[in-house]
Amino acid sequence: MNQESVILALETSCDETAAAVVKNGREVLSNIISSQIDIHKKFGGVVPEVASRKHMENISPVIDEALLSAGVTLDEITAVAVTHGPGLVGALLIGLSTAKAIAYSKGLPFIGVNHIEGHIAANYIQHKQLEPTFVCLVASGGHSHIVHVLDYDRYEIMGRTRDDAAGEAFDKIARSLGLGYPGGPLIDKLSTEGNPMAVDFPRAYLEEGSYDFSFSGLKSAVLNYLNSKNMKNETVNTADVAASFQEAVVEVLAAKLIKAAKDKKSPYAVLAGGVASNSRLRAVLMEKGQREGIEVLYPSPILCTDNAAMIGCAAYYRLLTGKTADFTLNAVPNLSIGQ
Ligand code: KG4
Ligand code: ZN
Repeated sequence: MNQESVILALETSCDETAAAVVKNGREVLSNIISSQIDIHKKFGGVVPEVASRKHMENISPVIDEALLSAGVTLDEITAVAVTHGPGLVGALLIGLSTAKAIAYSKGLPFIGVNHIEGHIAANYIQHKQLEPTFVCLVASGGHSHIVHVLDYDRYEIMGRTRDDAAGEAFDKIARSLGLGYPGGPLIDKLSTEGNPMAVDFPRAYLEEGSYDFSFSGLKSAVLNYLNSKNMKNETVNTADVAASFQEAVVEVLAAKLIKAAKDKKSPYAVLAGGVASNSRLRAVLMEKGQREGIEVLYPSPILCTDNAAMIGCAAYYRLLTGKTADFTLNAVPNLSIGQ
């Protein structure tokens, strides 16, 4: 591709309406995110129908702002990209139909991007030297995978959660502690005031050599602990419970990621997704990585959360290999990585 690439990317898979302009893959000209968190907070989680309606209202102003802040017009855009899965179907469809309309009316190449692959690509924006192959933990509200990234569009899934995603576990435990939504950042913050050794919650390492995760046993253990305290009329030290829960999650995530990096002889252990913002996870990984001679990389918080810059970056590498889509591309709520 000799011509400069200026991709307009859209992301509406969950509760952020996002648009970005990305130049030549890794240069972010703008990255606009309109979060619906304040709306969904009242319900304790994302309400799919409300999310779709809000995306409808927000998508055009967010695109306008992305173009304005990038200092480009639609005429300077060379391709349009959009997340087409996984995610909430009604939410995905808003981004998808908007992206199709723009690409069709301007006669531009159209690219569908897998949201999880987008999260991984956030690291290419942050770390200009990073190239496949490497091992990456993608942990967010909807997914937890350990992925061997073989190329920009080739992935080997080494492990995945067998029940809840890591972020989902954070959100559920935060709710039972009365902390609100989304739970991850709240537990992260409260844990700094608690003792991570206060309660010995279980760590699910699963079978020897497995890279899968399971958080349901831990979740039940925390709920049982809270119930038994309640029944005995004993006060609960919320900060201690939060810190002990977080430690149990982080210990397993970090151990499996470092082991996977060692097994694949990856010089990097890379983090992606909302949970990659967790301060304890970052700290534990940095320490383990240093000990093992593995460099730990993660994106800045704005690139960890759902955003469209990561979609524009992933789309660039699809475009390079001619992987454009036609206008029959549909939303796929349970799209797998590499599909
Ligand atoms: O990637 P993301 O923004 O959206 C999805 O694709 O799901 O991830 C959101 C998830 C939520 O579950 C949220 O609680 C979690 O990431 N999260 C965190 C932190 N910040 C966000 N979990 C733990 N610690 C954090 N600091
Ligand atoms: Zn996400």
